[in-house]
Amino acid sequence: MSSIKIKKLTQDEILLLSEIGAKTFDETYSWGNPKADMEEYIAHHFSVEQLTKEYQHKASDFFLVYEKNSPCGYLKLNQNDAQTDTIFDDALEIERLYVLKAHQGKNLGKHLLQLAIKQGKLLGKSMLWLGVWIHNPKAIAFYEKQGFQKCGTHDFWFGGQNQTDYVMKLEL
Ligand SMILES: CC(C)(COP(=O)(O)OP(=O)(O)OC[C@H]1O[C@@H](n2cnc3c(N)ncnc32)[C@H](O)[C@@H]1OP(=O)(O)O)[C@@H](O)C(=O)NCCC(=O)NCCS
Repeated sequence: MSSIKIKKLTQDEILLLSEIGAKTFDETYSWGNPKADMEEYIAHHFSVEQLTKEYQHKASDFFLVYEKNSPCGYLKLNQNDAQTDTIFDDALEIERLYVLKAHQGKNLGKHLLQLAIKQGKLLGKSMLWLGVWIHNPKAIAFYEKQGFQKCGTHDFWFGGQNQTDYVMKLEL
């Protein structure tokens, strides 16, 4: 039996999400960004208060991935007005897909992505899309391997300035 399980986040797990969210964001981006910008972004976007608001948005869903009952990463999906950009009609956005560094390369990311595809189909969406920082080649290669294609760019506000994300899409 697989030791990997995915469960929908419950309200009493928001503090856990806040910890995993802050840690994975720091592990992914601290090498290329000023410490003060990282701290400010994390304090705002991964606070329990902010995540509670996002959790309560009816068009967003959070999932935690577990390996041997230990939470190791998460997925955030958005539809309708929860999407960070309105690029496609009738689409589902992967806003966040993060696995703790110590648990990467063990298929956890792939399981989360497969769940996103399943949810998109269940919801009758025609497209799955995401934005990924142009300086994150590891994630870009991961998404390409799973069938996503680059189809443009959009801005991502970080540290008081715009950074560029590739927009990637997968037809469902
Ligand atoms: C990108 C990320 C989600 C991938 O998750 P992961 O659990 O490490 O990847 P998996 O073990 O599930 O790999 C799945 C497949 O992708 C491939 N893959 C993973 N990383 C890869 C890379 N850097 N280059 C090429 N292929 C890669 C694996 O070989 C595997 O291939 P398979 O389908 O043939 O088995 C994870 O590394 C991560 O959380 N990174 C930091 C956060 C991040 O950048 N998130 C994306 C923000 S948009």
